[in-house]
Amino acid sequence: MEKNFLGDFLKFYSEKNIILYLDDTFERLEKMPDEYVDMIFADPPYFLSNDGISCSGGKKVSVNKGEWDRGTNFYEKHEFNRNWLRLAKKILKPNGTIWISGTLHNIFSVGVALEQEGYKILNNITWQKTNPPPNLSCRYFTHSTETILWARKIMNLKFDETLAENYKSISQKIRVMSEFWLIENLFCPCCGNLNIEKIKNNSPVADIFCGNCKEIFELKSKKNNIGSKIVDGAYHTMIE
Ligand SMILES: C[S@@+](CC[C@H](N)C(=O)[O-])C[C@H]1O[C@@H](n2cnc3c(N)ncnc32)[C@H](O)[C@@H]1O
Repeated sequence: MEKNFLGDFLKFYSEKNIILYLDDTFERLEKMPDEYVDMIFADPPYFLSNDGISCSGGKKVSVNKGEWDRGTNFYEKHEFNRNWLRLAKKILKPNGTIWISGTLHNIFSVGVALEQEGYKILNNITWQKTNPPPNLSCRYFTHSTETILWARKIMNLKFDETLAENYKSISQKIRVMSEFWLIENLFCPCCGNLNIEKIKNNSPVADIFCGNCKEIFELKSKKNNIGSKIVDGAYHTMIE
């Protein structure tokens, strides 16, 4: 059993900078540090093992894969999906994303569970199989696609007021809270990159930038309502 700072994993396989660990999702996710990973890809059980038949290599075979795939009722399947998604959310970084593949047998439960657990579904991707097994019962269309749901945590819509405790001026308080919120929650509207970075203090013109496409952004705050005209702070004459 391998030990590292995440606990004692059973290391299954490793190569260059890839390591595969074998463990029970529910136990392992619980023990992992909060907001630890950038991305999760999951292919959870479809709960198809109900003593039915399938086709493999042109032959009729049992559809049963194992106890872990044994279908129960809808409520138990849904509870299973909610439970692992709740744990996955805990270890996902605030701007991380999750991708989940599934078939019609489980993906609708996964979709509802995602929303119930406070994720925002960003899109669904249809994976079309070029060689799906035929449906031997001839009573259904062949299942020839899987769906991949792509989601992120729902934005935190609260400012962290503790950041502003040492500031007196209202505008400074707003600046520090909104800057932190943007860096944690914003993605680049130009290239979609999820990592927005703060430009170092006292740099001219901009407040934050995208580490990928290098687009820069400026935060605006105003005592009164923001009107239709917003002064561009990027005038070199004003800042040099
Ligand atoms: C749909 S299959 C994924 C198959 C995989 N994508 C592949 O190509 O081999 C679901 C997988 O989840 C695993 N599984 C089920 N319950 C689990 C649990 N509690 N913790 C970890 N893995 C689990 C099963 O062993 C199975 O390999």
